[in-house]
Amino acid sequence: MSTGQYFDDEPSVASDPRPVEVSLPDLAITLTADRGVFSAEHLDTGTKLLLQESPPLTTADRTILDLGCGWGPIACVAALRAPHARIWAVDVNERARRLTAANAATVDVGDRITVAAPDGVADDVRFDRIISNPPIRIGKQALHDLLDHWLTRMTPDGVAHLVVQKHLGSDSLARWLEGVGHPVDRITSRAGFRILQVGARENT
Ligand SMILES: C[S@@+](CC[C@H](N)C(=O)[O-])C[C@H]1O[C@@H](n2cnc3c(N)ncnc32)[C@H](O)[C@@H]1O
Repeated sequence: MSTGQYFDDEPSVASDPRPVEVSLPDLAITLTADRGVFSAEHLDTGTKLLLQESPPLTTADRTILDLGCGWGPIACVAALRAPHARIWAVDVNERARRLTAANAATVDVGDRITVAAPDGVADDVRFDRIISNPPIRIGKQALHDLLDHWLTRMTPDGVAHLVVQKHLGSDSLARWLEGVGHPVDRITSRAGFRILQVGARENT
């Protein structure tokens, strides 16, 4: 069903693709965004902070998840920064998935990014790193269910980096994560955002 939100499965708003600059200290690329997809005009401030402040990817990050990929800035940047890695880019929004696949091809990493709907990721896939600007606006319970599902699919040494606006509940989300057994470090707090580093659940 379409509700006019960026997390609709199939946005009803007319398509109007436009170029967006992803300009970071280590790389600059031009990707394509569109209406009906999160942050259709520019790289989101929180996403930019996440891409600037998350600890560098290493060769241990063999399988990476961009949870809620939108038009794909995180997936594309991760693929360029980690040429050894396989990236999964997951989103409920079909237009977002198409944009991510096209953007991955544009920056020549299409062979290492698998774009999928949430149920399109095989059950046995495990992630060394999750990088996400998660969909806070889907509501607290839905967000908790979403994070629980994907964080449980990290490798034992896996780590997630999530950017969350403070006024949208970054601190209560951190408390909830700790309450269900995920260790959380608040690694950056800037411009109204926090970056949470989340470890795999301690008893798994
Ligand atoms: C805050 S946006 C971030 C988009 C993109 N990563 C960025 O930084 O520009 C969150 C994304 O999560 C997606 N989303 C919402 N519910 C989801 C779910 N259950 N599973 C996967 N993705 C979901 C939305 O469609 C949206 O694209």
